Amino acid sequence: MEIKKVMVIGAGQMGNGIAQVSAQTGWDTVLYDINMELVDKGLANIAKNLQRDVSKGKRTEEDMAAIMGRLKPSTTLDDAADADLIIEAIVENFDIKKKVFEQLDAIAPAHAILATNTSSLPITQIAATTKRPAQVIGMHFMNPVPVMKLVEIIRGLATSDEVYQIIEEASIKMGKVPVWCKDVPGFVSNRVLQVMINEALWELYEGVAPAENIDNIMKLGMNHPMGPCALADLIGLDTILSILNVMYTGYGDPKYRPSPLLKQYVQAGWLGRKTGKGIFDYSK
Ligand SMILES: NC(=O)c1ccc[n+]([C@@H]2O[C@H](COP(=O)([O-])OP(=O)(O)OC[C@H]3O[C@@H](n4cnc5c(N)ncnc54)[C@H](O)[C@@H]3O)[C@@H](O)[C@H]2O)c1
Repeated sequence: MEIKKVMVIGAGQMGNGIAQVSAQTGWDTVLYDINMELVDKGLANIAKNLQRDVSKGKRTEEDMAAIMGRLKPSTTLDDAADADLIIEAIVENFDIKKKVFEQLDAIAPAHAILATNTSSLPITQIAATTKRPAQVIGMHFMNPVPVMKLVEIIRGLATSDEVYQIIEEASIKMGKVPVWCKDVPGFVSNRVLQVMINEALWELYEGVAPAENIDNIMKLGMNHPMGPCALADLIGLDTILSILNVMYTGYGDPKYRPSPLLKQYVQAGWLGRKTGKGIFDYSK
């Protein structure tokens, strides 16, 4: 199957990055969210990213205009009717994703592949909400999508070899490096990463050190480019709490129990960079 049209569901930090890379690949790309304000915010972020490339001499104004020209805003899932590949990047919540997959399954053409950018939810369970489980796959991009090379590819129990190959090739065309792993809660990436981030949040909760010190210790001592607290704010504390809860219930192992402080930040609406405040303050 040749991919000509891609639809990205969710114009948040991951969705707009995925749409940018899809349009850069040369594919007509629809960017969907539940209202036009959110879609416009996503498109504005793409324009800002591309403009930065132009300023640095990494791409031309013409190239930027061509990429922006391939992006179409949408607030209706009906636009999936002629898509070849649909990549879902909405909130990390199974019930919400289930509703969207059921609708997409009814609208999308029979040949279309439904990919999910979920960080932790079982691909097999998401696939089972559709009548095409062989055509459902995990395509886990990293944040920020235009910069990070990895796409973690996760097959559900029913995902076909053909669909796996198409998605592997599509990831390479997008300039990414696909690496597969099995369908376990949190996959490889978040099973490792979120335990570290959660431990940093436990340290913060216990008053072991302030967030700046925790980050400096991990940056200067372990050569991490970013400390776990700053990384948590970049990912989004709501997303991290959802991932930890998926792993906590999925493995039944207390090592994934979320720090009470993480829960409190989410209750307060301090979700990280996307809300201007998380562990750190970004309002200035
Ligand atoms: N943030 C990260 O670093 C990261 C990395 C890899 C994967 N992911 C995954 O990508 C997905 C999106 O994460 P994000 O960080 O972009 O989140 P986000 O909060 O920035 O954006 C989510 C977007 O989905 C939209 N949306 C569209 N349809 C929706 C619906 N029916 N119900 C609710 N929301 C709807 C929301 O309006 C919002 O704009 C999640 O599954 C997350 O686990 C996130």
